[in-house]
Amino acid sequence: MIRIILIGYMGAGKTTVGKALAAELGVPFYDLDWFITTRYRRSVPEIFAERGEDGFRDLERRMLHEAAEFEDIVLSCGGGTPCFFDNMEYMNSLADTIYLKATPEVLAMHLRMGKGKRPLLEGKSPEELEETVRQMLVDREPFYTRAKHIVDVSLLDTASKIQDSVRIIREMLKV
Ligand code: S3P
Repeated sequence: MIRIILIGYMGAGKTTVGKALAAELGVPFYDLDWFITTRYRRSVPEIFAERGEDGFRDLERRMLHEAAEFEDIVLSCGGGTPCFFDNMEYMNSLADTIYLKATPEVLAMHLRMGKGKRPLLEGKSPEELEETVRQMLVDREPFYTRAKHIVDVSLLDTASKIQDSVRIIREMLKV
């Protein structure tokens, strides 16, 4: 049975790598944010606006407990998922967890391209964005590094990043 959960900061490429990995392994891919927005018929920014971050974290936890029980899946989480409740322990108890690690510079570069989707980073200048990523990573890395495996994506060449990440993960997990 294949149950792989990708974690890491926003902009690390969890969704992109997850989709490619699932396609190679021939198993369904789920993105936790997609799961939440489909179930509640609201975008992530709308849920933050209506319920606040605490409300979003409750829904996120609830949906994690549904999605992570599926057999034969690749699941990518939101950047904050591992950092709330006992989510990280829960994920480790039933899946191969992989932290897609990247430097604040690389993350900020990716995030500049995805404006308007991430309420926690809204309205920041490029300099503020990188500083925010840096600060948040200090708080979040202790959670992320509890993953069973770590793949450092910032070391990979941009052109072949996705295929290389998939190859490294498959070698690590022998799948
Ligand atoms: C968040 C990451 C987002 C989304 C929400 C909060 C976070 O997911 O869940 O905006 O706290 O890091 P991505 O990591 O897929 O952008």
